[in-house]
Amino acid sequence: MLRKILLFAMAATVAVITVTAALAYDVPDVIVLERPKGNQALNSWVTPVKFPHGFHAIRQACRDCHHKESDKTLGQFVGCRQCHTDDNPNEASGFYRAWHSPGPPSCLGCHTRMRTEGGKNPVGCTTACHKPKK
Ligand code: HEC
Ligand code: HEC
Ligand code: HEC
Repeated sequence: MLRKILLFAMAATVAVITVTAALAYDVPDVIVLERPKGNQALNSWVTPVKFPHGFHAIRQACRDCHHKESDKTLGQFVGCRQCHTDDNPNEASGFYRAWHSPGPPSCLGCHTRMRTEGGKNPVGCTTACHKPKK
């Protein structure tokens, strides 16, 4: 019983933190991740990715992904593409690695890790992210 109450208290705290964050920052809901100008695609089938940002922002901490930001930098959650522009796939601060590097905070890095822990995170290139043009 005590354990149940503790869990409930924890869940309530998480909910309050989420609401506070949502009020303090402008949190975009869906973001289309377009390639920066001048950056070459690695393959012709690579389509822009529709990223359910709001869906993630209520499940993961902001700084799980926004690694250059902190709680102190209020309003400073800048887009990854302001820095991650280089089209060299081996460049850590380049475009490709922001989304595909083996570890978080990349999309694929976090999804594959969570999958091994039993999560339902999608990992298919063209089924989850780069949906073919209709
Ligand atoms: C799962 C990873 C992830 C989480 C969690 C996350 N974000 Fe983001 N956020 C992104 C990505 C990816 C973008 C798009 C970056 C781009 O367009 O280059 C983004 C974009 C943004 C932008 C727009 C930046 C701009 O100028 O284009 C804001 C503001 C933002 N996030 C705030 C937040 C806040 C506040 C939270 C927590 C409540 C949060 N994000 C949680 C990944 C995340
Ligand atoms: C202010 C610039 C800046 C912003 C904004 C930024 N990054 Fe980075 N990121 C870097 C730099 C520089 C590196 C190289 C390693 C380092 O110095 O931390 C890096 C490294 C990474 C790596 C590790 C790559 C590897 O293979 O080692 C990932 C993944 C990543 N960033 C994802 C993101 C995501 C996702 C966002 C947006 C939610 C983001 N970054 C926003 C500058 C930035
Ligand atoms: C820090 C971890 C983390 C990162 C980084 C992350 N995700 Fe996710 N993602 C999740 C979680 C957690 C789920 C929900 C999995 C579940 O339902 O079990 C999810 C689910 C999804 C879904 C399915 C949504 C649905 O409606 O079921 C898509 C699409 C997705 N992510 C795309 C992305 C993209 C694109 C990026 C990078 C821009 C990204 N994710 C980065 C953790 C992450």
